[in-house]
Amino acid sequence: MAKVIATVSLKGGVGKTTVAAALAEFLAAEFGQRILLVDLDSQINLTTMMIGERRWLELNEAGSTLAALFNDAVDGTSNFDIERAIQRSVSSVEKVTTVDLLPSSLDLIEVQEELSALRVGADDTLAAVNILGTAIKPVADSYDFILVDCPPNVGPITLNGLAMADGYIIPTIPDVLSTYGIPQIQRRVCEFSDEIGRHIVELGVVITKFRLNSTVHQTTVMKLRRDRTIQNVLPDYLPESNSIAGAAEFQPHATLKAKYGTHGQFDRFRGLARTVMVEAGDKLP
Ligand SMILES: Nc1ncnc2c1ncn2[C@@H]1O[C@H](COP(=O)(O)OP(=O)(O)O)[C@@H](O)[C@H]1O
Ligand SMILES: [Mg+2]
Repeated sequence: MAKVIATVSLKGGVGKTTVAAALAEFLAAEFGQRILLVDLDSQINLTTMMIGERRWLELNEAGSTLAALFNDAVDGTSNFDIERAIQRSVSSVEKVTTVDLLPSSLDLIEVQEELSALRVGADDTLAAVNILGTAIKPVADSYDFILVDCPPNVGPITLNGLAMADGYIIPTIPDVLSTYGIPQIQRRVCEFSDEIGRHIVELGVVITKFRLNSTVHQTTVMKLRRDRTIQNVLPDYLPESNSIAGAAEFQPHATLKAKYGTHGQFDRFRGLARTVMVEAGDKLP
């Protein structure tokens, strides 16, 4: 059975999607893992990063995105076909062959509101958050890890991701405003864990866009490390770097080094993937 890890935060732009994409590619290429990426963000960043906008448009028109799944739940239809929706071997890096993707859609914005209404109105309030988990269950055994990239909120779509997650990681830029929301997201996940009657393990905080020459970054990292309410600041800080920013562009790369950068970036991401794998092995069921 796959281990399911969500990338969550209440703040946008902190590197959630970049971490999810890179973790998938490094776990696959460097550690031989079979990965399913699940894009839950209506901004479709992970989706366009992996398959490009043109292919996304085709899938969206064909009803082969997660919007179709949630629309089915709201409308009582059954148009969504998971086998058709899963895009196989999506990595732009030639040798990375075991990363699949469940694509998102801009249409998630509308369905999100209807899902909220469903959650409030239904007798079984958990039904509206188990839609994704139920849909993915038949394919879960084909993967070692399912990485769920969440939007920066705790709306019903994020809750669908959390409801199937064994653990979660919180990417953050180590500055004042980015770290501000960490206790809130921890609290929300805790409350939701209670609601579903299952513990969702905090695997740790991932430091992103780290600038060694920034005093704020240095002191914030120190504060986070001392903070007892944070389970674990993962030791592999991701540097702010042009090549990591450029990795978001949909284009072929010969190697992971060519995609993410050779000045320490490759080693940091590889280290992070290794850490997450070890933490998941120790802490997840
Ligand atoms: N380590 C990094 N160095 C430089 N740019 C980064 C880094 N991580 C992410 N970015 C860029 O920052 C922006 C926000 O990152 P993203 O992963 O989309 O964050 P989120 O999913 O939290 O909104 C994107 O343009 C992305 O390419
Ligand atoms: Mg994102």
